[in-house]
Formats: sequence, structure tokens, C-alpha cells
Amino acid sequence: MADKGIVYVDNNATTCVAKEVFEAMVPFLTNEYANPSSPHPFAAAPAEAIDSARASLAELLGANTDEIIFTSCGSESDNTAIRSALETQRGRRKVVTTAVEHAAVLSLCRVLEKHGVKVEYLPVDKYGRISLDQARRVIDDDTAIVSCMWANNEIGNIYPIHELAEIAHEHGALFHTDAVQAVGKVPIQLEGSNIDFLSLSGHKLHAPKGVGALYVRRFTPYATFLTGGHQERGRRAGTENVASIAGLGVAARLAKENMEKEQTYVKGLRDKLERGLLATCLDPMVNGDVEHRRPNTLSICFWDIEGESILLRMYEAAKICASSGSACTSGSLEPSHVLRAMGVDYRSLHGSIRFSFSRYNTEADVDVILQVLPGIVKELRALSPYGR
Ligand SMILES: Cc1ncc(COP(=O)(O)O)c(C=O)c1O
Repeated sequence: MADKGIVYVDNNATTCVAKEVFEAMVPFLTNEYANPSSPHPFAAAPAEAIDSARASLAELLGANTDEIIFTSCGSESDNTAIRSALETQRGRRKVVTTAVEHAAVLSLCRVLEKHGVKVEYLPVDKYGRISLDQARRVIDDDTAIVSCMWANNEIGNIYPIHELAEIAHEHGALFHTDAVQAVGKVPIQLEGSNIDFLSLSGHKLHAPKGVGALYVRRFTPYATFLTGGHQERGRRAGTENVASIAGLGVAARLAKENMEKEQTYVKGLRDKLERGLLATCLDPMVNGDVEHRRPNTLSICFWDIEGESILLRMYEAAKICASSGSACTSGSLEPSHVLRAMGVDYRSLHGSIRFSFSRYNTEADVDVILQVLPGIVKELRALSPYGR
């Protein structure tokens, strides 16, 4: 991707809208502006666009169309699933999740704790892996829902969600997976699986921001989060974001058609970058479960250096857009909760960088990073207060 000369390797944060997606959206931002719920024939095109998008998404997920609810984002889907489980199973007051979830789940859990819900956060080992034995110890008959991400946004780890779902069901609990980083990237077959809820977000798979979906398995007890009109068969109120939903449908179709080829392609780019950095960058450390991670993601720590400084220098040198493992909380830089949960040592914790590729990256992007980053690391390391 060479727009504005930018080397964009931050695709786990968001992706560009695919040209085909954009083109599919245009009619619903221009001439076809009817409300899909209106009774006149002018509403037929938007209503059909929603049906068609639902069918494409169902196909990508191996699900039935009536199991897909369009939402505004991945965060809404996560909130809906977990709140729904607590609402429909009032006798159960416990949520089991992991220490490495996205804020969309973790922040909700903190709120729920304030309202008397008990939340168990499964710890991870130094590779970011959870233990199923530990899960067996904490999931019990008081558990309303177990929520575990399919793939981690920072380190790319893939989690054993089917095994966890089985444990949840042994205790009568529901199972939700935040698959925002997995949909369109890993094969998913929900029909016949033991997953009750699955969240996804359009902007991670080349659809626009502000559209998502929640899969709710047939016959799963469900409580509406957004109440109002009868959209989405009464399960999510609000006039549909027709253009974005149409775009998401096309993005889902493209993802399904190209998944295998695309994942092999991004793995080639990621592996080339990883090999190059390991060979030239003074002892970096690759984070995560390298055998079980998304093929597009490289999380890497450079000890004694601030990740933010690396990011700044990479942008100044070659307009490289990546991400650090830090999050800005009230003006101070907090190291990543994922790396902290993994017990990454203090000298590496602040120096983490995440590179994440998409189908639009090229070998030239990797070459640019390999040209500039080793020099930046050497320079910043020489300035480090540890004097190494
Ligand atoms: C794993 C995961 N869950 C949830 C979200 C939130 O999705 P959205 O931005 O659509 O609310 C993200 C986005 O970064 C994510 O990576």
C-alpha cells in the first residue's frame, strides 16, 4: 500500500476499505437512500442489500442467515453477548474470561464487577497461552458465560475456543468468542459447532468502521441490548447502516474467496520481516505463541527502548505506521496488559512493536522496514539510560 507514501503495517488496528467494498456502498450513500423498513417499493433495494450482506456473512461463518445480527461495531457485539447471557440466566452471577481480552470485554467486566458480578480472568503463560485445566477449575454451575477471544489483537495468538466452549457447556454456561481478529482470517464453521455467540467487526476485514455483527446460535436465549424499533427481527433496534452493511457483505465475500491465498501471502511477508529483524536488531524478542498465531502478526520487543520512540522514528524515516504495545491512558503510557499478563520483563515491556499485514502490503513494505529499523534500534539503544 503506497497511498501518501505510507507504509501501513497496522492492520490489526484497522484496514483500508477495499475498492470493491467502497463501490458496493456508493448507491446507498447516494440514490438508494430509502429506509429499508419503509413500505414502498423504493425500500426494496436497501432491504435486498441487507439480505444479501447477511447471506454473504452467513456463508463466511458457516452459519444460518437468521443467526446474524448487524451491530455498530465489535465492541457492541461483545457487550450484547455478555450482557445478554447475564440477563437470560439470572440465577448465574459469574463471567469467566481471559486476562488478555480486548478492552471491549475487559472494561465491560470491570463495570459488571461493580454491579456484583463475579469475574474470573484466566491467566496466561509467558507465551500468552491459557490453560484448559485452569479453566476447568474456575468454570462452574454459577457461570453464566465464558468469553474468550478467537485471536489476540496484539500478539496474534489463536485460542482453543472449541475446547473452552465444551467446558462451559458441561456446566450449562453459554460460550462467546470475540472473533474480531479472526473472521475472514481463519476458517470458521459455526453450524454444528459449540459456539453460542461470536462477535465481528467490519473495519478489520476491509469494510468500513462503524459496522459489526453478532452471531447468535439458534435457540440460544437472547436479551436485546438496544431496544426501540423492530429492526433485526427485534433483536437490535436502530435504522440499519445500509451502506456499511452492504460493504461488509462484499468484504465477507472477498475474504471467503481469498482467505487461503491471502493468509499464505501475509505469512510470507511477516516471516520475512521477523527473520530480518532477528538477524539485524540486537537481540529482539518475539512475543506470543509462535506456532499458534495469526500469520499476519508480529509482536516484537526491543529491550531498553521506548516503543513510542521507535514508532516516531520509523514514521519520520519512512512513514511507517505500526503500533506499540502501549495504550495511552490519561496522558501516561501504560504498557500493554497482554504483555504484562505474560510476565514480559520490565526492560522489554516498553519496547514492544506490533506489525500487522494485510493483502495490500508488499515485499517493498518489508524491505523499507528492514532498511530503517535496525539503525533506529541501534541509535536508541545507545541513548538508553542503561548504557548498553
Ligand atoms: C479483539 C478485538 N475485539 C474487539 C475490538 C473492538 O472492535 P470495534 O473497534 O469494532 O468496536 C477490537 C478492535 O480493535 C479487537 O481487536
